Amino acid sequence: MKILAIETSCDDTGIAVLEVSGAHSAPRFKIFANLISSQTDLHATYGGVFPMMAKREHARNIVPLCVAGLKQSKLLKKAKTPLVINSKKLEILLEREPEMLEIFLKEIPKYEKPKLDRIAVTVGPGLEPTLWVGINFARALSLVWNIPVVPVNHMAGHILSVFTGGKKSFTIPTKSFPALSLLVSGGHTEIVLAKKIGAYTILGSTKDDAAGEAFDKVARMLGFPYPGGPAISAMADIARKASTKIFTLPRPMLRSDDYNFSFSGLKTAVLYTIRDHGKLSPDDVNDLCREFEDAAVEVLVHKTLRAVKEYKTTSVIVGGGVSANTHLRTELTKALKKENVAVLFPDKKLSTDNALMIAIAGYFEKANKNSRSLMKADGNLKL
Ligand code: KG4
Ligand code: ZN
Repeated sequence: MKILAIETSCDDTGIAVLEVSGAHSAPRFKIFANLISSQTDLHATYGGVFPMMAKREHARNIVPLCVAGLKQSKLLKKAKTPLVINSKKLEILLEREPEMLEIFLKEIPKYEKPKLDRIAVTVGPGLEPTLWVGINFARALSLVWNIPVVPVNHMAGHILSVFTGGKKSFTIPTKSFPALSLLVSGGHTEIVLAKKIGAYTILGSTKDDAAGEAFDKVARMLGFPYPGGPAISAMADIARKASTKIFTLPRPMLRSDDYNFSFSGLKTAVLYTIRDHGKLSPDDVNDLCREFEDAAVEVLVHKTLRAVKEYKTTSVIVGGGVSANTHLRTELTKALKKENVAVLFPDKKLSTDNALMIAIAGYFEKANKNSRSLMKADGNLKL
């Protein structure tokens, strides 16, 4: 089976092509293409993601990115005569994306219908205006190529992002489940019990800001560009080597009797520290980053460890943009090693949003012939 996957839930336009072979119970995956067109530089100038601006960028980039992904997968052949398209139906479908419609009509009919078995697309959670671009693009391709579409939950994608091991071809070891999953991104912070693929129960989540959001907001206070995670992490590492501790911040909800988080208070504590301290020297900035990262990571590790003990899983899956964080990786690995629990992180390039994880998750979804008309964006979609 060959799957085309589309991801537009935030500020990364993602296209992936994945081949799946073998039994459904033990599939082997082969990556044909995994392309990302990142809008980070655009949003960096504004200090965050503006949904309507992100939507426009997705609409501009998605058709050429998809063509490039399919070409790289050797699935696109120039048509001798242009593909006949029911442009009336397409116009209605892409009514709200006139720019994408124009590019679609110019590009897609040039090629023969590719040998694809399904199109997987992120339907939530995320920014609804940007999700709609991916969904409508998937529906348009499904219409002109007559290929089924499957809706995918972005967070289910993050869970399955850990299995590639940085390789082109990979499997999902059955012993990985049941697993406990820590999902940490710009929009989410959740501890999830994954009994098996597709059977997910949220045990706890953030009451306010997501972990990545807190990194981004603290970075902004300190004058670092969006997204702030990597910058904070780099400064924190410098301070850790110097080992002079200047600041102390709270560990919100560390001792609370649940699996919930709160990062808004920590962010405010950083704000008050900056206000009360006066001018910060470069060493002060580094140490503040170190203390903030220590505090956030300590709470994440502590709660994950508690959940592992309660649910007695032998593996932990970490997904989402913040899973790229080196300090989190080190501390979690250290803590779980003591418990004899395996920890799985995504290849760093797959920590942040990508369509490959959507393709993997899309394989496990059931194709439904009504999906094309029923699919809609759900910004708050739950696992
Ligand atoms: O999963 P993702 O790409 O998008 C969402 O679905 O939200 O996550 C993006 C988030 C941003 O908040 C970014 O600052 C954070 O992941 N991030 C990091 C690191 N790299 C990315 N946070 C901490 N340390 C990092 N190295
Ligand atoms: Zn994400």
